Amino acid sequence: MAALLVRGVRDMLKRADFATVPRRQRHKKKWASTEPKFPATRLALQNFDMTYSVQFGDLWPSIRVSLLSEQKYGALVNNFAAGDHVSAELEQLKARDFVNETVFHREPEPENSQTAAPSHVSWACSPNLRCFTFTRGDVSRFPPARLGSLGLMDYYLMDAASLLPVLALGLQPGDTVLDLCAAPGGKTLALLQTGCCRNLAANDLSTSRTSRLQRVLHSYVPQDVRDKNRVRVTSWDGRKWGELEGDTYDRVLVDVPCTTDRHSLHEEENNIFQRSRKKERQMLPMLQVQLLAAGLLATKPGGHVVYSTCSLSHVQNEYVVQGAIELLDNQYSIKVHVEDLTHFRKLFMNTFSFFPSCQVGELVIPNLMANFGPMYFCKMCRMT
Ligand SMILES: C[S@@+](CC[C@H](N)C(=O)[O-])C[C@H]1O[C@@H](n2cnc3c(N)ncnc32)[C@H](O)[C@@H]1O
Repeated sequence: MAALLVRGVRDMLKRADFATVPRRQRHKKKWASTEPKFPATRLALQNFDMTYSVQFGDLWPSIRVSLLSEQKYGALVNNFAAGDHVSAELEQLKARDFVNETVFHREPEPENSQTAAPSHVSWACSPNLRCFTFTRGDVSRFPPARLGSLGLMDYYLMDAASLLPVLALGLQPGDTVLDLCAAPGGKTLALLQTGCCRNLAANDLSTSRTSRLQRVLHSYVPQDVRDKNRVRVTSWDGRKWGELEGDTYDRVLVDVPCTTDRHSLHEEENNIFQRSRKKERQMLPMLQVQLLAAGLLATKPGGHVVYSTCSLSHVQNEYVVQGAIELLDNQYSIKVHVEDLTHFRKLFMNTFSFFPSCQVGELVIPNLMANFGPMYFCKMCRMT
């Protein structure tokens, strides 16, 4: 049985056709002498074939081919820079603002409808976000962002699924917000676009990556917003945050380091599946639990946390959420409630493909018609 499985996986690997990966996403070939015998991208595929074929069953072949194909982007409009002409230009390209279309212009649900929004506010989306995507099956690309008249870039290109954790966090005007693992800064920028942050702490352990975050902020956010003590960028170990600033924030985003599944299939550079990084990879779930626990401790009782990854792995997603909740209960007697995002998922299912059977949280799975993600997110409320 085991031999059959190994042979099956070996055959699959032989058939894996990397030539279908678009040129701009292929890694640069090294000289023969330095080229690894078994590249990390291939190790990643081997690992995913073994774990995800079990985890996703019949869904895995379609997720797999989507992961190996060119991903789709979203254009997050920069509210600090743009007049309405940017939205108009994006509409001319036949892109549509999936947030505005979904959240604000939805047909009212019929009375007594089973899908009607729950009265609970857990699904309420962070406001003022505008993100354009091409419709299902349209694989057009956005032109690069441009500098606007105020000296700020007009939009930020990102995986549109990356906006979902920020939308799910449900910011309210005047919130104090912590972005625990913030660099290179796509989600930090989205948090600021809501106009809700009384102040925002954006942290990342890596100083080189916080420099990238600073560059993003300089290119997209006016100086007065960056300066007025409203945005603080730090390079601390996020695991210590509970001790540094416990019970402090209304909303916390914990977008942890993970196996970055799509990146790991396409880029040799900084690939977590390099043999030398095996230990680091194995320790990821432990680090993720510690970061989520720290994020929960930094939240005020009654405040909200969103945990997110760009991995399909249940071990890095649902198990981490369950592990951190248990840890807070056992070590600190703090109760955490996982919020039901079913309604939130229904709002966005025309744009994204969701895995239908997550135990906790929601998972966007790559699909050739809507090739976003993977993106897992789970919203929690700290009760005590
Ligand atoms: C998935 S990335 C964050 C992406 C970012 N939120 C965005 O949307 O652009 C995870 C980040 O966690 C950072 N990180 C790793 N270990 C950390 C730690 N102990 N404390 C804080 N940040 C950490 C990494 O440097 C990396 O930039």
